[in-house]
Amino acid sequence: MSLLLLFLQVTVFCFSITLHGGNETDKLSLIAFRAQIIGDPFGAMNSWNESVHFCEWSGVTCGRRHQRVVELDLHSYRLVGSLSPSIGNLSFLRVLNLENNSFGHNIPQELGQLFRLQMLRLGINSFSGEIPVNISSCSNLLNLDLERNNLTGKLENLGKLDVSKNRLSGEIPLGLGSCTSLEFLDLGENVFEGFIPKSLSSLRALDALDLSHNNLSGQIPKFLGNFKLLKSLNLSFNDFEGEVPMQGAFGNAMWFPLQETRSFVEVYLC
Ligand SMILES: *[C@@H]1O[C@H](CO)[C@@H](O)[C@H](O)[C@H]1NC(C)=O
Ligand SMILES: *[C@@H]1O[C@H](CO)[C@@H](O)[C@H](O)[C@H]1NC(C)=O
Ligand SMILES: *[C@@H]1O[C@H](CO)[C@@H](O)[C@H](O)[C@H]1NC(C)=O
Ligand SMILES: *[C@@H]1O[C@H](CO)[C@@H](O)[C@H](O)[C@H]1NC(C)=O
Ligand SMILES: *[C@@H]1O[C@H](CO)[C@@H](O)[C@H](O)[C@H]1NC(C)=O
Ligand SMILES: *[C@@H]1O[C@H](CO)[C@@H](O)[C@H](O)[C@H]1NC(C)=O
Ligand SMILES: *[C@@H]1O[C@H](CO)[C@@H](O)[C@H](O)[C@H]1NC(C)=O
Ligand SMILES: *[C@@H]1O[C@H](CO)[C@@H](O)[C@H](O)[C@H]1NC(C)=O
Repeated sequence: MSLLLLFLQVTVFCFSITLHGGNETDKLSLIAFRAQIIGDPFGAMNSWNESVHFCEWSGVTCGRRHQRVVELDLHSYRLVGSLSPSIGNLSFLRVLNLENNSFGHNIPQELGQLFRLQMLRLGINSFSGEIPVNISSCSNLLNLDLERNNLTGKLENLGKLDVSKNRLSGEIPLGLGSCTSLEFLDLGENVFEGFIPKSLSSLRALDALDLSHNNLSGQIPKFLGNFKLLKSLNLSFNDFEGEVPMQGAFGNAMWFPLQETRSFVEVYLC
């Protein structure tokens, strides 16, 4: 009987945490985030007040068990302001989507602390300054979109980008071309389509490139043959057409056409 009571008490206790708890650090971070927003023409953040639990604030999603903020999505609200460094304290954050607003100033370095971050979308804003050096140490980052800002710097620390075996679609992002220190790029087993972009020709540090198992088309670009350090190139299972280039490193490559109907090419460069 007393055991049952204890069980009930524990259950009720857990429930009250779930309903009203949450981590004060997350709340303070969100309040600091809001304080840097000086324009909200659609009233997107009207619910961000004390009478509403922060997990219910619009755009905020908390994890069900621990009431920690896992998503902050306020895209396309014409928000004006800057991004508070306190964002770096939302340590459970997996998705940050502030795309298509009018955020200005720098992207705070503290973003680099968000090691659980999987999606970071800050495109179509007015961010300027350097891309935070540690953004690329967000090792879970699968979806990085910084398009249409006024950022400088390079994803210099980004030596390895492996987003293989996802369901990433659309064209290969042109911006990848600025990750000039990439040594390992694996976009394999996704649903990327379109051509291999010319901008990838700047990835001269590449040692391994895997674009296999996508829906890429067009010619295999000749510039791939100029990557002096490339040891492994996997283009198999796509819809490439035309000849495999024979220039540059392709000249001494071993390649394996394994299937006639689709161009199935596995190229190893010595
Ligand atoms: C809240 O989160 C911070 C940072 O992750 C952690 O240091 C702190 O112990 C947490 N507090 C509670 C009450 O869970
Ligand atoms: C807080 O937000 C809720 C939901 O948007 C709203 O109904 C309520 O009036 C707000 N309270 C105050 C004091 O602004
Ligand atoms: C950006 O946000 C505005 C305002 O919500 C919307 O009208 C527009 O379609 C959005 N643009 C994009 C590219 O999402
Ligand atoms: C992050 O949290 C720590 C500990 O709670 C606090 O000292 C620090 O001021 C916070 N940083 C920001 C930028 O809010
Ligand atoms: C960047 O990461 C390095 C190594 O993890 C760390 O020592 C440094 O403090 C970080 N810098 C910032 C600004 O977070
Ligand atoms: C981009 O940033 C540079 C240097 O910070 C500045 O001179 C320029 O006006 C900015 N361009 C736009 C479109 O904001
Ligand atoms: C090339 O890609 C195909 C399809 O993803 C895979 O089966 C094969 O093992 C890859 N080859 C190498 C050497 O990585
Ligand atoms: C691949 O692309 C072709 C056209 O380029 C399209 O017809 C086909 O549906 C695409 N396949 C997938 C799986 O997206």
